[in-house]
Amino acid sequence: MMPFKQHLQSTTATSRLAIHSKSANFSKPTAQLLWSYFPELPVLDNILAHLKKTATLPDMKDVGFIGVQHLLPTTGSLFKMFTLMGARPENMFFAGKCYSTDPGVAYILKQLGLYIIDGTKPGRLGEYVKAHNQDVKKLWEAFLDHCKKNNIKKIMILTDGAAVIDYAPPLDDYEVIAVDQTRSSRYSMNVRESRIKIINVAQCAAKQLLEPLFIQRSALERLKPLFETIDKEKTVIGVVGYGAIGKALVKYLVSAGYKTVVYDQDPIVMNSIVVTRNLTKANNLSYLMVNSHYIFGCTGQDITKGINLLAINGWDRHIASLTSEDKEVTELLLNIQKLLDSDKGATVVIDTMSDIEIKTSMGNRLFVIKAGLPCNFSRAETPDPELPFSLIRGLLACAAVFGFKLLESGDPTDSKNIMLDPEVQRFVVGLWQAELGDLQQNDPEIQQLPINNFQHPRWIADHSVGTLVDYPNNSFSNNKQFKVMAKL
Ligand SMILES: NC(=O)c1ccc[n+]([C@@H]2O[C@H](COP(=O)([O-])OP(=O)(O)OC[C@H]3O[C@@H](n4cnc5c(N)ncnc54)[C@H](O)[C@@H]3O)[C@@H](O)[C@H]2O)c1
Repeated sequence: MMPFKQHLQSTTATSRLAIHSKSANFSKPTAQLLWSYFPELPVLDNILAHLKKTATLPDMKDVGFIGVQHLLPTTGSLFKMFTLMGARPENMFFAGKCYSTDPGVAYILKQLGLYIIDGTKPGRLGEYVKAHNQDVKKLWEAFLDHCKKNNIKKIMILTDGAAVIDYAPPLDDYEVIAVDQTRSSRYSMNVRESRIKIINVAQCAAKQLLEPLFIQRSALERLKPLFETIDKEKTVIGVVGYGAIGKALVKYLVSAGYKTVVYDQDPIVMNSIVVTRNLTKANNLSYLMVNSHYIFGCTGQDITKGINLLAINGWDRHIASLTSEDKEVTELLLNIQKLLDSDKGATVVIDTMSDIEIKTSMGNRLFVIKAGLPCNFSRAETPDPELPFSLIRGLLACAAVFGFKLLESGDPTDSKNIMLDPEVQRFVVGLWQAELGDLQQNDPEIQQLPINNFQHPRWIADHSVGTLVDYPNNSFSNNKQFKVMAKL
């Protein structure tokens, strides 16, 4: 029989582990071997080494973790780091998102003893949020039951999405801190009203200013196979939303020679767009929809609201989301589901995570790519692009340490919106910069990032959102002057 480790190395797919485990000769892998599957991220290794060296390694053995995370290989690396800080896998409860969960990662985490919900796919079109919220409610039930049985009193919420905070039950018996990495949480009424204190990773300078370039690049990388099938001569591509993601998409499309039309609801943004031979602007959303063959939603909002794409004339169209959940096309999905329910006009049906093809009332076909879920996640076991992920995983790891220290040192502030410590950001960006190496000089887009400004905590604080809070024995800090200036 092939040794287990060799078997893993001989494949790239984590799900082979699942297949292997069912084979007759299977011997149960050790936890060490299972953790070793997740990629080593130098940023995380260096953070750990620093915490050990400064004797500030937290002991997280009594902390319960709960959250929603994309279950990707580097998420496993982050969880591994928490266990190296003493966290117990059985105290870690996470839900994934159905469109991004890497099944092999979910499988390995379950083998390691974490409580994992892979992410339930919507039962019906347009019902992603309903399915996801049910996952989150189930997660909280299981988690609190575990906390009660095991006398866990400290809770760390580590979340990508507002639902975990929205659906948090009363937690008066617990000390709770949340690490929040997504801007959508900031828009949720429940989040604003909850009593949970949030470390605002989403709006920290390091995430806001350094990550988008890499997110756009990885999104485009994953979309290239789709673009390769598109005939440049006969096709117009519409991009809705000219923010970080939309702008990067437009830049790619125009440079690759696609005829592109763009619309953003913000007039200032529209004014900033320079028209070229291949790039035109639409005066409104309907114009863009009517005049495009492919429509990419890059807004984080429902771009189909009030627009009847099922009655649109002219030619076949594709519509896709590049953002989150099924937000970009929710109304369209609900309308298609209604049609299916009434059994009028539907042609091919229907997996709520696969491409949908539907005949419009005008006789054309409308394709909804990946049923409106973000088309830049494959769920395939592709490696995460390491540069952006090592930055965000490093920020999350240190935010969790920061949160833990705040829990330990009592309640230092009334604010619920706590800035990710500028010293922590300086420290993590420094490690990440070392990983960038020559790229910082040789890649013109990276050259333009304000990486060097991250040597200055005052500047970081000015570009981050939240209340500045200090805690005793902050081993990430080496800048006493900043503390004086910030009156901490
Ligand atoms: N899929 C992914 O990998 C991924 C990664 C990061 C972020 N996101 C999500 O993608 C969304 C967009 O991210 P971003 O960084 O580009 O945001 P952004 O705020 O930089 O840009 C969004 C743009 O869309 C415009 N807009 C909003 N609603 C519109 C509408 N109805 N019609 C036309 N224009 C509209 C806004 O004016 C803005 O210019 C966010 O919700 C974010 O959470 C997804």
